[in-house]
Amino acid sequence: MDFHELLLRRHSIRRYTEEPIDPEAVKTILEAGLLAPSSKSARSWQYVVVEDRDTLARLSECKPAYAASIKDCRLAVVVTASPEQSEAYIEDASVGAIFMHLQAEALGIGSCWVQVRGRMSADGTPSEDVVREILNIPHDMVVECIMTFGHSAETRKPVDPAKLKWEKVHLGQW
Ligand SMILES: Cc1cc2nc3c(=O)[nH]c(=O)nc-3n(C[C@H](O)[C@H](O)[C@H](O)COP(=O)(O)O)c2cc1C
Repeated sequence: MDFHELLLRRHSIRRYTEEPIDPEAVKTILEAGLLAPSSKSARSWQYVVVEDRDTLARLSECKPAYAASIKDCRLAVVVTASPEQSEAYIEDASVGAIFMHLQAEALGIGSCWVQVRGRMSADGTPSEDVVREILNIPHDMVVECIMTFGHSAETRKPVDPAKLKWEKVHLGQW
């Protein structure tokens, strides 16, 4: 499959089978995160790998909605970044997350971005603090998102290129 075909097929996958992810595939996904470009090559990201089911269940409580895939996944990678190491830490973290998302797709593994930064848990605690506390993440690290991974239990159709929003592209000037 060429890269454009992969982009057309890519979707956020939130439901996973029980099948474990091959350890080599886990390594390849993490390599993709470490291969991600970063501003001034500061590599301000750090990733926390979680496979323990109880820990995944606790992490899924970090926000009341759109976090269920954490409980269900076979692997979660918590994407953190250091504002002290780069003023572009959010961009660095985002590129790292998306590299892992696309690498997973290329391996036939589904994944989903679960936003953490800026979100709140059910009792009003910032989602970042909930995740930090569970995983012992230092306070100077921002928790951008949790990437969930697993073999897909969903069927999603490829995107039809004819439906792309070309009105969002401005030629020459706005
Ligand atoms: C910055 C960002 C934050 C997202 N946050 C969540 C989230 O918290 N929970 C979730 O289930 N999906 C989340 N998603 C996935 C989007 O909902 C998804 O990309 C969008 O609905 C388009 O669907 P697709 O990825 O299948 O094309 C997020 C995606 C991005 C890029």
